[in-house]
Formats: sequence, structure tokens, C-alpha cells
Amino acid sequence: MLPLSIPCFLFLIHALLAGQSIATLFPPSNETTLIAALHACTELKSVLGSSIVQSFGAEYQAAASNAWNLQNAEYQPTCIVFPAMKGWNSVQAGVLIMFSHMQKASYDPEKDTIELEPGIRWRDAVVALEPYSVAPVGGRVGDVGTGFLLGGGLSWLSPSKGYAADNFKELDIVLVNGDMVTVTATNQHSDLLRALKGGGNRFGIVTRYELYPAHTGTKDTKPFFGGSMIFNSSDALLRATAKYVREVDDPKAVLLVTVVLIVQDKEITPFYGAFMFYNGTELPANIFGDFLSIPAISSKLGPASYLDVTATLGLENERGYVQHFGASALVGEEDLFLDAFEHLKNFTMAFKDQFNVTSLAFTPIPDSQIQAGHAKGRNIINAPRGGFSAVQIMQTLKSGVRDITSDLQRGIDLLFEQIPPSPGLPLFLNECDLYQNVYQSYGDYNLLKEIYAKYDPTRFNVQHTQGPIGL
Ligand SMILES: Cc1cc2nc3c(=O)[nH]c(=O)nc-3n(C[C@H](O)[C@H](O)[C@H](O)COP(=O)(O)OP(=O)(O)OC[C@H]3O[C@@H](n4cnc5c(N)ncnc54)[C@H](O)[C@@H]3O)c2cc1C
Ligand SMILES: *[C@@H]1O[C@H](CO)[C@@H](O)[C@H](O)[C@H]1NC(C)=O
Ligand SMILES: *[C@@H]1O[C@H](CO)[C@@H](O)[C@H](O)[C@H]1NC(C)=O
Ligand SMILES: *[C@@H]1O[C@H](CO)[C@@H](O)[C@H](O)[C@H]1NC(C)=O
Ligand SMILES: *[C@@H]1O[C@H](CO)[C@@H](O)[C@H](O)[C@H]1NC(C)=O
Ligand SMILES: *[C@@H]1O[C@H](CO)[C@@H](O)[C@H](O)[C@H]1NC(C)=O
Repeated sequence: MLPLSIPCFLFLIHALLAGQSIATLFPPSNETTLIAALHACTELKSVLGSSIVQSFGAEYQAAASNAWNLQNAEYQPTCIVFPAMKGWNSVQAGVLIMFSHMQKASYDPEKDTIELEPGIRWRDAVVALEPYSVAPVGGRVGDVGTGFLLGGGLSWLSPSKGYAADNFKELDIVLVNGDMVTVTATNQHSDLLRALKGGGNRFGIVTRYELYPAHTGTKDTKPFFGGSMIFNSSDALLRATAKYVREVDDPKAVLLVTVVLIVQDKEITPFYGAFMFYNGTELPANIFGDFLSIPAISSKLGPASYLDVTATLGLENERGYVQHFGASALVGEEDLFLDAFEHLKNFTMAFKDQFNVTSLAFTPIPDSQIQAGHAKGRNIINAPRGGFSAVQIMQTLKSGVRDITSDLQRGIDLLFEQIPPSPGLPLFLNECDLYQNVYQSYGDYNLLKEIYAKYDPTRFNVQHTQGPIGL
């Protein structure tokens, strides 16, 4: 019931995709937008009451200042709506909707589906569902929320289950015009379901996700083998990664490789890691042999439950820095991977005064993942057949550095040009920069535009909310 009155103010919602990761200056806020926001908040309060619509107080403060990305934490929403049948991302002069009162996760064994409310984070979802031996195809870091799903979602389970969004069975969504509809693969909104599998925040506000689960066992069953290896040289690691991307197509195997440069007192310390798992009792040599044969500084490999898998990356408490993300995508050619890292090194040296950390992260997307998506009714990303790697380009600014200077922005622009996506590959929305036209890189870009025109004919969302460009 409550969500019905919220969408009237959808235009005020800062719905910036890949929210925590985008570092921009404050969006323009002026007297006009502030007055509109005050009006909206007053009206919302009169309809919903002041415990659901808050402009001050402890819960308001906690929600407004707890963003992952420091730049989002500095926004000051005019009010925050805590819908409840009772994030992080934020807004300057506007309304922020926090789903923190909507965090349920449940499993229906009859239907074999998982239901999630949009306020839950992946750690809590995985813990809540583990007793039922199932897990959602969710984030690789526990702190991330369900906005992950709308961007496609790359999970530890993706090589066998597809992009996270491929596992949508049924969604409830409040459309831009305020209608609340249920979308499935077979009802009159099947086109919308397709668009939401990678379409981000442009189509409305999802209030319920019903998902196909992965059967991962309980915490006592350890169907996986793997963990992390840390190296002190990048060359062999990058070569092994490119070869893996080119050759491996096994739904039981999953890999994440990251090359990180940590800047401390102008000294640059590298950190090279491979995180890999196999659904089985070992890491097969014909798949992971190249990684296993690189001399490692540390190697933590062993049998793992899915809970163990989701704890591998840690990264739970890194909030409080300004982070900037960007996306590329590469086919598995050694030179492309080696060059990308050379460019990152040069970029990091050039701007080392401003960084705490820079990195590249490579997530292989094997053909099995693309096929799994086809089998479940296709997504809107529509990646070409054959494997490739999503590439995340990340910088964390030094503490105290809040803004990206124009010099640094030029450096970032150059870096993106120097690591261009291989022709025909889709960029990954969850890792992109505000200015990257991710939709345009999708195989079904034209279809996405058509579906958007149908569901938001007045173009309300693109005119009044921040989010991916290109519609
Ligand atoms: C530490 C870290 C690790 C990450 N790891 C991964 C990873 O392994 N795989 C991956 O794919 N991505 C990963 N990401 C990226 C992440 O998926 C995106 O940043 C995603 O947008 C986060 O969603 P959220 O719900 O946490 O954030 P929010 O800021 O709450 O939401 C992000 C965007 O989605 C919109 N949105 C959220 N909920 C709804 C809803 N119910 N209806 C409509 N729009 C909504 C918001 O308005 C906003 O535009 C990671 C990010 C970080 C910071
Ligand atoms: C205020 O900001 C809005 C949104 O950015 C913009 O459309 C409008 O023109 C601005 N108004 C003034 C008076 O600057
Ligand atoms: C692991 O593989 C087995 C088949 O060997 C399969 O039944 C199971 O569903 C797989 N687990 C996951 C989480 O994919
Ligand atoms: C890199 O690691 C190997 C294996 O642990 C070690 O022998 C070598 O000395 C290390 N090199 C450097 C430069 O730290
Ligand atoms: C850099 O970030 C790490 C955490 O990622 C933190 O421990 C360290 O203090 C930071 N250093 C600076 C100079 O900000
Ligand atoms: C190194 O980075 C700087 C700063 O962005 C840039 O001006 C220069 O062209 C880069 N050099 C190479 C070889 O990429």
C-alpha cells in the first residue's frame, strides 16, 4: 500500500546507478529544486507520517551518512522515506527512499523460489537462507544491496546460473506513472522483465524480488574447493587470466583476479590476487593449473561452503573513502591484459599524490554464463556468445581528498581511452562511470529503448533522476 503514494515523487529520487561507486560533485541543487523537495517532503509526511518520512534525528543521520562512498555520505537529502510493510546512495535537495525497513528473505520449497525485499544486503540474505540449503545468485561482497540485481549482477555463482538478474522469476515494481505491477516472463509485462535484467533504475522501483535459487547446501556442506592466492608479480598472473578467459568454459569454475596498487607516502606497493573456486573437491589442473604454478606469497585454498565463498573477499569495512569506478570489457588476449595494467601503473604514478588505492579487477564471463541467461529467457545485456572478461577500473582517493580535480578527470578519461572495450562487448553497469554509455554497449540496446519508451512515455525518469545515460 505505502509504495503507491511514493512514486508521485519519483522525479526527486536520486536513483544513480552504481551509486556507491560513482564519485561526482554534488548534483546541482538550487532554490527551485530545494523548494520542490521541501514541498514533496511535506506532502509525503502528511500522507505517510513522520516516522516513515524523516528529515532529522538519529535514523535520518545514520541513513544519510552511512554510504559506502564518502561522496554519497556528504549528500543531504531533504527527507528520507523508510517505506515499510512496515544504501547507500543519496541526494542533495530531494527525497531519498531507504529500504532499510524492508529486509525480509524467505524460501518457498514448493515453488523452489527465493523472495527478497529490496532493503536486504547479500550477507544477510545468504545467512538467512543457508538453513534451507539455498542461496540467491547475489553479490560477492556482503555489504552490497539489491540494486546489484538491476545492474545485471556478477556473482560467484554466475558461470553456472547466469548474471544474477537472469534468475528473476517475478518482480513487483512501482512504475514511473505510479502503477504497481507484477512482472513475469509470461504475463503482459514480460518485456519489462527482460528490460530489468540489466536495465538498472530507469523503469521504476522494485519492491519485491522472486528469484530462482542456487542449491548450495548448508554451512556444513562444502561443495566448493578454492580460496585466494596472493602473488608478488603481475606478469604471469595477467597472462594466466587472459588464457583462462579465452579457454575456460566450465560452469563449475569461477575466478576473480585483481591487481591493486596501494599508495602510501608516495611509495607504491602492489597486491596481486586470484580468487577462485570450483564446484568439486579440487581446483582442476587443466583449468587453474597456470595460477597454481605461480609462486605465491600466500595461498589459502581448501574445501568451502557457500558461506565461506562469500566471506573470501572481506572488504566489509572499507567505507569512508571517495571511490571512483569505471568499466571496460576484454577478450582473452594476453597483450590486452598486460597493456591495461601498464596504463594503470602510469596513471597511478602520475596522480599518486591523490590516491590511496588504484586497481583493475577482472571477472571472466564464460559462455556458460551467457547460455544460462538464454535458457532463463534472456537478459537485455545480450552479450555475444564466447567468453570475455568484465574489467573494473577503480580508484580510491586519499582520505581528506574529496573531489576529483579536472586534471585527474583528464587522467581518468585518458585511462578509459587506453583500456577500451574489445569490439562488440557489453560494459557492466554495476562497475561503470557516470559518463559511460553502458546501455549503448548492450546487444539489445534498441529493444531496451523501445521498452523504456513504452513504460515511461513522458521520459520522466531520464529527465528527473540521475542514472545510466543513453535512453
Ligand atoms: C565493495 C563493493 C563490491 C561490489 N561487488 C560487486 C559484485 O561482486 N558484483 C556486482 O555485480 N557488483 C558489485 N558491486 C557493484 C554494486 O552491485 C553496485 O554498486 C550496485 O548498484 C549496488 O546496489 P546497492 O543496492 O548496494 O546500492 P544503492 O545505492 O542502494 O542502489 C544502487 C542503484 O540502484 C537503484 N536501486 C536500488 N534498489 C532499487 C529498487 N528496489 N528499485 C529501483 N532501483 C533501485 C538505486 O536507486 C541506485 O541507482 C560492488 C560494489 C561495491 C562498493
Ligand atoms: C535548478 O536546477 C534544476 C535541476 O538541475 C535546473 O533544471 C534549473 O534550471 C535550475 N534553476 C535555476 C534557477 O538555476
Ligand atoms: C555443483 O555440481 C553439482 C553436480 O555435480 C550440481 O548438482 C550442483 O547443483 C552444483 N552446485 C552449484 C551451487 O552450482
Ligand atoms: C616473490 O615471492 C617469491 C615466492 O614467495 C619469493 O621467492 C621472492 O623473493 C618474492 N620476490 C619479491 C621481490 O618479494
Ligand atoms: C588507505 O586505505 C586503507 C584501507 O583500504 C586504510 O587502511 C589506510 O589507512 C588508507 N590510507 C590513507 C593514506 O588514506
Ligand atoms: C601517463 O599518464 C599521464 C597522465 O595521465 C599522461 O599524460 C601520459 O600520456 C601517460 N603516458 C602514457 C605512456 O600513457
